[in-house]
Amino acid sequence: MLDTRISRRAALMGAVSVGAWVASPARALLQSGAGMPLPAPVEALLARMTLEEKAGQLSLMAAAWGGSKAVGLNPPSEGPSFAAQVEEARQGQLTGVFNGNDARMARIMQTAAVSGSRLKIPLIFAADIIHGHRTIFPVPLAEVASFEPELARRTAEMAAFEAAGAGIDWNFAPMVDVARDQRWGRGVEGAGEDVLLGKVFAAARVRGFQGNDLRSSERMLATAKHFAAYGAAEAGLDYNTVDISERTLREVYLPPFKAAFDAGALSTMAAFNELSGIPATGNDWLFNRLLRGEWGFRGVVVSDYTGDEEMIAHGFAQDAREATKLAFLAGVDISMQSGFYRKYLPELVRSGEVSQAQVDGSVRRVLGMKAMLGLFDDPFRRIDEKREAARSMTPRARALAREAGRKSIVLLKNEGSLLPLPRSGKKIALIGPFASGPQNLNGPWVVYGDDAKAVDLATGMRAALRDKDALLVVAGSGVEEPLGGGLEASLAAARQCDIVVMAIGESFNMSGEAQSRTEIIVPVPQQALVEAVAALGKPMVIVLKNGRALALEGAVANAPAILVTWFLGTETGHAIADVLFGAHGPSGRLPVSFPRSVGQQPYYYAHKPTGRPNPPGERLEEYKAHFRGITNTALYPFGHGLTYGRITYSELTLAQRNDEIVVAARVTNAGSSAAEEVVQLYIRDRTASITRPVRELKAFRKVGLKPNQSEVVRFTLKRSDLSFIGRDNRPVLEAGAFDLWIAPSAEAAGVSTQFRIS
Ligand code: NOJ
Repeated sequence: MLDTRISRRAALMGAVSVGAWVASPARALLQSGAGMPLPAPVEALLARMTLEEKAGQLSLMAAAWGGSKAVGLNPPSEGPSFAAQVEEARQGQLTGVFNGNDARMARIMQTAAVSGSRLKIPLIFAADIIHGHRTIFPVPLAEVASFEPELARRTAEMAAFEAAGAGIDWNFAPMVDVARDQRWGRGVEGAGEDVLLGKVFAAARVRGFQGNDLRSSERMLATAKHFAAYGAAEAGLDYNTVDISERTLREVYLPPFKAAFDAGALSTMAAFNELSGIPATGNDWLFNRLLRGEWGFRGVVVSDYTGDEEMIAHGFAQDAREATKLAFLAGVDISMQSGFYRKYLPELVRSGEVSQAQVDGSVRRVLGMKAMLGLFDDPFRRIDEKREAARSMTPRARALAREAGRKSIVLLKNEGSLLPLPRSGKKIALIGPFASGPQNLNGPWVVYGDDAKAVDLATGMRAALRDKDALLVVAGSGVEEPLGGGLEASLAAARQCDIVVMAIGESFNMSGEAQSRTEIIVPVPQQALVEAVAALGKPMVIVLKNGRALALEGAVANAPAILVTWFLGTETGHAIADVLFGAHGPSGRLPVSFPRSVGQQPYYYAHKPTGRPNPPGERLEEYKAHFRGITNTALYPFGHGLTYGRITYSELTLAQRNDEIVVAARVTNAGSSAAEEVVQLYIRDRTASITRPVRELKAFRKVGLKPNQSEVVRFTLKRSDLSFIGRDNRPVLEAGAFDLWIAPSAEAAGVSTQFRIS
């Protein structure tokens, strides 16, 4: 339905790839169901497998020869030595390993499996390639700010090209969890707060990772994770309880998964959280009934890291044996890291608590996945040390990282057109803990990337400046603690300069897994630094580094120019400099709402109206839904982002065409610089049998406008765009009045109208 130039192109590509995929033997194999015929030699293997070997095929472990970074990405465990793990491969006790070292490691292990084990079943190598393998792209949330799904498809494709070259078959991405509470640290891995963005980016990333041919040594299998509603954790506390209605689950949290599976994602990962009383990992309704039954999913379900074991702490399973049984019977095919399946499944089958047929079903799916990846034909197809080196951080990959980086940046504010900065004639003080140095460039969730190979901000700015000495660089503060003498040095530098650029915000480990924050603010010592420098009265640009929306306060919020730059990866400094100095006009839009205050969390634009809505605007009315002293609106809403042009909206028209509504509006750049505008279409269903959000994004389109250029932007709304999940938890379309906006953000007026459907 998305009638956007960008997304139409993406949709077309999707159609091509899905078409090819539908016709592929691999797809046919997977679609043929639980009793699917495996290629004859693989089927013969199944007949020869012992129960222990079958349980081994359902057991995935962290690689014992992991890099140090990989080890830090999950809780420490007392795993075996590398030699012992190789022996496990020989004994048929492992289906594969994840977050391992490199092609060298994969070769040693694969050799042990295919020449040393009884049945010679190849191992599968998995990893968390969340935003790039060695070339690191912007964190997923940042990339969504581009509102350009095709960009995400391209970076995912490049990540697959690098990673598959290094022996990786299976990616634990994309994360497609909708995240509406900014305290939650893992929002950085996803597509933000909106359902439509969640869907289109999920599909784009799956297509990028998997491509048309899973046997290709340039592709890897995608995992849509975490099934389901992991992002709805109470208070944004990671791993916390989720208690939501089935309707909310179906309307908000499931659609990005469905989009990922429709795009061909062949695996999913069970979420850590409980869902209304039942841990996802032991949730029979979720996997057997909804995912496999209702949706017809034929791919592989893997638990999260010790997810089965954690059902004991949840208070759902009394011991390891019961946890194994509950997870397996709920439909989780592979156990990650606990080792429970290989330990308890054989015994559960012998006792009759788990049927042989169910175990065979899971093993078939796992062998089917390996067959589709081409591993039975050539277990070494992705393991090639020379190719690994040749594909690593190529100029093409770095150019893509720079493009993705600058397209991810959002300009929140630009008073007096302070930006873009001049490339000569002015002295600039670059101050803050993120001004320079090889830290905090790649961001969270990086297994194989190296910050030392990334470009920092000072380097990027110097490269853009005509006079390299025009830049003074001072750290000024630590991230969460003051720096001795930092304040004095910062003030001295600022006094000598015409313009101050403050590089402040969150470090890479303040978002990501287990990094929920109660105070989503700029850390106190950095805030103090900005207050002190701002008191000098120099023109100030805030360059914010962040893995979530932040509540901006004081001198930070009051600075005349604010750029949201997230974590941009390998080309951080160049990408920011491109926007700072105007080589690229800012074109990103917020995929998450920046609140006025921390206490508003969870705050998201598509909230319900309540029975006592406060009137629009700044005025606070008694006995209406607002907090003491502030309206419950965003400081910078979802969809917001300025350009170096001046964009206006006019001439909204509506026409019916058969069963569809064609909406159009004129968008004009009245400024003197070129601009890229993300034109957004929102609706509100005025009255319904289930209350509806105050606004919902239904379409968007990115348009490039030269100075004084205007364009009529058209969208087509289908019936399904106006429907919602009704009382019986199925989609329903009800007659009645709708509001419609074409606007530059979720809380901007733009141009609007009403229409009725009968
Ligand atoms: C735990 C995380 O929740 C999951 O996303 C990740 O894939 C696994 N660890 C493996 O590293």
